[in-house]
Amino acid sequence: MKLLHIIATTRGAESRTLSISNEFLKTLKEKHPHVQVDELDLSTTELPPVLDTNVKAKYLMMMGGQLDDKTLESWKKVSEMAEHFISYDLFLITAPMWNFSIPYILKHYIDVIMQAGILFSFTASGPEGFAKYEKMVCITSRGSDYSPGSHMHAMDFQEPYLRAIFGLAGIEEIHFVHAQPMDIAPGLTQAALEKAKEEARQMVDKLAITAQV
Ligand SMILES: Cc1cc2nc3c(=O)[nH]c(=O)nc-3n(C[C@H](O)[C@H](O)[C@H](O)COP(=O)(O)O)c2cc1C
Repeated sequence: MKLLHIIATTRGAESRTLSISNEFLKTLKEKHPHVQVDELDLSTTELPPVLDTNVKAKYLMMMGGQLDDKTLESWKKVSEMAEHFISYDLFLITAPMWNFSIPYILKHYIDVIMQAGILFSFTASGPEGFAKYEKMVCITSRGSDYSPGSHMHAMDFQEPYLRAIFGLAGIEEIHFVHAQPMDIAPGLTQAALEKAKEEARQMVDKLAITAQV
């Protein structure tokens, strides 16, 4: 069993979000040492541009057209990244909230990997994802508090977006741990961090990981 840890914070050891994910990973390693954990740090990964050539290739691929050598060469980096993603069984996303949603490095990664024919296909009854049996944990932290019932809740475009886009790839089991509020008062920050770390540790059992390789 393989887990891909997608890191979408640029703050390294200072990142609150990453400190919570590290608690999840520590517990995962203690309870399920057979799970292989690979890291994809988006702040240090060169992602292929989703610009002219690769956008042209995307449309050609969707319409069953032929790619010329230059387009094919460029598209190879996109398809390899999508195939790398789909080769995993479990995903951990570490992403602070940025402007009510996700940091742009994660959006860029999603724009690269979300390819028809690799992560999902179009069928007569709508898109069908290929990652139906995979599970995902998203760990976030936010400056304010977006809990259900709060006046900020309607501004949370992060959780609904991540559910929708990875749902397109077929992932139905998506769990969230949110640390919030982080930037209102130091006392609140510490309490919210401890709460989120405990939720992250408990999340390992929720995944019901079996001993299968
Ligand atoms: C560019 C940027 C945009 C942000 N946008 C929001 C936002 O929309 N809502 C919010 O509550 N906090 C926002 N924040 C605050 C972060 O979500 C918060 O400080 C978080 O804990 C940072 O996580 P990190 O320590 O893992 O980097 C933003 C921070 C940055 C740097």
